[in-house]
Amino acid sequence: MHASSYEEMRSFVQAHLGSRREESLTIHDLGSQDVNGAYRDLFDAPRWRYTGMDQVAGDNVDLVLKDPYAWREVASDSVDVVVSGQALEHIRYVWITMLEIARILKPGGLCCLIVPAGGPEHRYPVDCWRIYPDGMESLAHFAQLDVLQVQTQWGATGFIDNSDVWKDTVLVCRKPDHGFWWNRKSALKRWIQHRSLVQGLPQERLSLGALASPAPETTTVAVPASPATVPEPAPNPPGNPRAVPDLASCSFYHTTELPGGETVRGQWDLRPTVAAYLGHVPLAGRRVLEIGPASGFLTFHMEAEGAQVTAVELPMEHLWDAVPVAGFDMAAWRTDFTESIHGVRRSFQYLHHLYGSRARLVIDHLDRLSATDGPFDVGLLGSVLLHCRSPFTVMEQVARHVRDTVIVTEPYDANLGELPVCRLLPEPAQQQVDTWWAMTPSFIVHSLAVLGFPHAEVSVHHQKRECDDLMVPMFTVVARRA
Ligand SMILES: C[S@@+](CC[C@H](N)C(=O)[O-])C[C@H]1O[C@@H](n2cnc3c(N)ncnc32)[C@H](O)[C@@H]1O
Repeated sequence: MHASSYEEMRSFVQAHLGSRREESLTIHDLGSQDVNGAYRDLFDAPRWRYTGMDQVAGDNVDLVLKDPYAWREVASDSVDVVVSGQALEHIRYVWITMLEIARILKPGGLCCLIVPAGGPEHRYPVDCWRIYPDGMESLAHFAQLDVLQVQTQWGATGFIDNSDVWKDTVLVCRKPDHGFWWNRKSALKRWIQHRSLVQGLPQERLSLGALASPAPETTTVAVPASPATVPEPAPNPPGNPRAVPDLASCSFYHTTELPGGETVRGQWDLRPTVAAYLGHVPLAGRRVLEIGPASGFLTFHMEAEGAQVTAVELPMEHLWDAVPVAGFDMAAWRTDFTESIHGVRRSFQYLHHLYGSRARLVIDHLDRLSATDGPFDVGLLGSVLLHCRSPFTVMEQVARHVRDTVIVTEPYDANLGELPVCRLLPEPAQQQVDTWWAMTPSFIVHSLAVLGFPHAEVSVHHQKRECDDLMVPMFTVVARRA
């Protein structure tokens, strides 16, 4: 599934089931086959029982449904929660499926359905519908389910897998519980609807629908690029969120060794000296908030050390705090720069897939990081602050979510002395707009002390820059709350 769909389901779980983790709940996921992603781990509570249902056997499928429109394998009124993502658009007679969902739910049971309202055709093996909120509401009412929430994600979420193209509609609804007799009457009505509709279906029904085996090819649409615009990576079909970018389309910021033994060169080779870059902070079992992962060498390194990493990048449309140098052709720069950052983000995606990483990538502004993303034990700002208009503000935003340690690594310039200062780097004559500051270790130590991290250690180390093979001096501040 695409990344935003996973997030939408996570929000449903948090909002509607978060307080029910101690209850014993049965959860059925319709169209659950893991084609690069599944919701199963969202339902991983000791007393919850998740069942993946699909029309075909496969990964993440516990129950194979023989008939997509009559689930004889599942008893009526037996399930607490039904969820489904990226499946209903592939079901020809989706209103019958709604009747089945309503039938198996217990009175009072909850349902969360995610369906695209946009995106290219992707036959799996058929692609029948895009559904807007009014359509979802109609389906719910048709099956006598009460709508609790329905909305389409029209705005940008900024996930790098191009989730936004699918414009997901999310419906949360409940099977009403108005007492035994009312419930029986409602079930009878549904049974009559179901019977008359199923009898009218053509015989081919058994072999068609989302839940049948995938067609051999899926449609991928390349967004046409005009010379003035930067091509976006082609969208991934739902159900295939982590479609791996081509290695050739990736630009690596970090030099990285691939599992086959091949080494791809980036701008920096942190491999031999990564422990110093991270201030030798033990990371096993810790929750880390990493700002600006670029190709993710540090992300995957920390994960391999046992950390649980959430990495944050800015949305593409607000890319970097470019220095407003007078007379500089910012539009041309943005076009080139955006293209190169797309390549770097693809390299993250590529490595994420290759390593089977569980690190989360959030694409958002730091001031919009929600409290539910944290708290984190450790915050990491590796070579980020020099690119920020207001380094203090960025440290403040990170500090808000970190309960223990902040690590900041920056280039070291011994000529700047001991004072807590930043030197402005851009010059009017220079055509350089992506780097703002050189700063002293003392500036970071003082800033973090002000922000509640008064216990700091500073170390200086050298990191290899690939373009000239130079070992460049850098410093790392490790500041703790206590
Ligand atoms: C030089 S790379 C550093 C990559 C990696 N952290 C490391 O230490 O090797 C800078 C990173 O900071 C991010 N970045 C740049 N400006 C930023 C800002 N204003 N706020 C947050 N992140 C920013 C970039 O997207 C990029 O991932």
